[in-house]
Amino acid sequence: MTEILKVQGLRKAFGGVVVANGLDFSLSAGAMHCLIGPNGAGKSSFFRLLLGEHAPDSGTVTFDGKDITKLRSFERIRRGISVKFQVPGIFKALSVRQNLEVAFQDHLKSQSLDTTIKEMLAFTGLTKEAMTPAGILSHGQQQWLEIAMAVGVEPKLLLLDEPTAGMSPDETRKTGDMLHELNARGITILAVEHDMAFVEQISKRVTVLHFGSIFAEGTIAEIVDHPGVQEIYLGAADV
Ligand SMILES: Nc1ncnc2c1ncn2[C@@H]1O[C@H](COP(=O)(O)OP(=O)(O)OP(=O)(O)O)[C@@H](O)[C@H]1O
Ligand SMILES: [Mg+2]
Repeated sequence: MTEILKVQGLRKAFGGVVVANGLDFSLSAGAMHCLIGPNGAGKSSFFRLLLGEHAPDSGTVTFDGKDITKLRSFERIRRGISVKFQVPGIFKALSVRQNLEVAFQDHLKSQSLDTTIKEMLAFTGLTKEAMTPAGILSHGQQQWLEIAMAVGVEPKLLLLDEPTAGMSPDETRKTGDMLHELNARGITILAVEHDMAFVEQISKRVTVLHFGSIFAEGTIAEIVDHPGVQEIYLGAADV
């Protein structure tokens, strides 16, 4: 299978904190894969490095066959990388529709803007809430709005940082179904998650990040039984 993403020797330190420690990682086109790891492992930093929000100290990022290490974020987005970050990125005072307009306006022409907004409202079940201020949506709906904001630009690779944090089990399952649908449309998905039921719903294999390096990679059963993985999670006080 073709690799859509290949990261080689990626390193980034903030003072003494090493968030990526010679990271090697690759993802096949069309995959749906999960990244797990204890708090502070460097998962969110990895996404920021992939989007170009942090410049690495060394190493390379190859996306869709091209070295994008030196490209700025907007150029990476234009090439097909889209991220839903862990920190909320919606404008609470704006309506659901306005949030989608803001997210898509630089990427879509006006006719396709309206069509895409309608599609995304239907996809996330937010059609009735189009004129509702985003801040009064339920927590789950706010997360779906953010997924829609990331997906409407038609990425090849969608990075999701803890998309189901704070969701009910029902909302979590619905989110998993949504990701399967996006993946069936051809979008490669990499998600950071803590909820193992969700991980199991969307991916067969997982990668474990620890201190900015790949600690283990395998099937969910292999990872759950892995004594070293159990240890690094037990070592993290709040997991
Ligand atoms: N811009 C920054 N400057 C300094 N330190 C940072 C910066 N960004 C992240 N860090 C530190 O790097 C480490 C990794 O952070 P990161 O947010 O990537 O972890 P994470 O795996 O996403 O954790 P969590 O599961 O809690 O979301 C943490 O110790 C964090 O405090
Ligand atoms: Mg994080």
